[in-house]
Amino acid sequence: MSKGKIRIAVFPVAGRGTRFFPVTKVSPKEMLPIVDKPLIQYAVEEAIAAGAKKLIFITGNSQDVLKSHFENNLELEKALIQSGKESLLSLVKEIIPSDIKCVYINQKKPLGLGHAVLCAQEAVGNEPFFVHLADDLISGDVPCLVQMRSHFEMHKVSIVGVEHIDLSESEKYGIVGTEKNNGVLQVTKIIEKPLPKDAPSNLAVVGRYILKPEIFSKLAKTSKGVGNEIQLTDGISSLIQEQPVHALPFDGIRYDCGSKLGYLRATIEYGIKHPDVGSRLSEYIQRLK
Ligand code: UTP
Repeated sequence: MSKGKIRIAVFPVAGRGTRFFPVTKVSPKEMLPIVDKPLIQYAVEEAIAAGAKKLIFITGNSQDVLKSHFENNLELEKALIQSGKESLLSLVKEIIPSDIKCVYINQKKPLGLGHAVLCAQEAVGNEPFFVHLADDLISGDVPCLVQMRSHFEMHKVSIVGVEHIDLSESEKYGIVGTEKNNGVLQVTKIIEKPLPKDAPSNLAVVGRYILKPEIFSKLAKTSKGVGNEIQLTDGISSLIQEQPVHALPFDGIRYDCGSKLGYLRATIEYGIKHPDVGSRLSEYIQRLK
């Protein structure tokens, strides 16, 4: 491992996506488009920007469609050339640069996010790694994982990305209790989906993590928790008994694209910024008011 660098990103994409039924009955929610790119493509771009060289996808029934999206399709490329549409080639060719390795691992049953991360153990080995949940789309000047990597390079500890939420929404998130230590937030408590009255704060973990490999032995011992699933939150709760974990409030806007409203917000806001359709979409929205 190159010193202090994080080279591996894990993308758990094996959830059922029940909040988006029926569209996610067959298609994975990570293939939902925000304007013209699927969520998972934004995720991969963010991880590569943060230095990831090996991408591990933990898939359910989504494996084939995901793989096909990222692999080159020579037949399609040939057809574009033959029909004089070379300008479109860059959109479909080498979506993932050729020096980046992709690994696909099947999570046979959606036993929970903690279990999905545990499925990556062998492929990750003994190094720190990113975990990126593609349905949390985050926009900002500096990609969220880049901000987290900078923090990791200084402190060399596991990190959870957090944001302030309205306490009434605590049951949707893992919530952390923290202690300020030399200007950083050290996690002292982490609880999955607590009632507002039991939440240690209004700081919610969103879908970005840097985890040290010791998390795997914790997850292997984690039994089913909230929702009868093996929760990553519970694994992190064991980890903080042994080593520091930091919470990092990142700069950026998060869209919960696993929910219909969050997804529509992202679609509109990314649409308004899109070079092809942005100005016409803005005009259209003005007319609706
Ligand atoms: P969610 O909590 O959003 O669950 O998972 P979900 O099943 O995808 O969606 P809903 O709540 O039923 O609508 C958080 C992340 O963990 C992954 C999901 O794909 C998502 O990226 N996940 C969850 C797995 O990979 N495996 C699991 O067993 C559970």
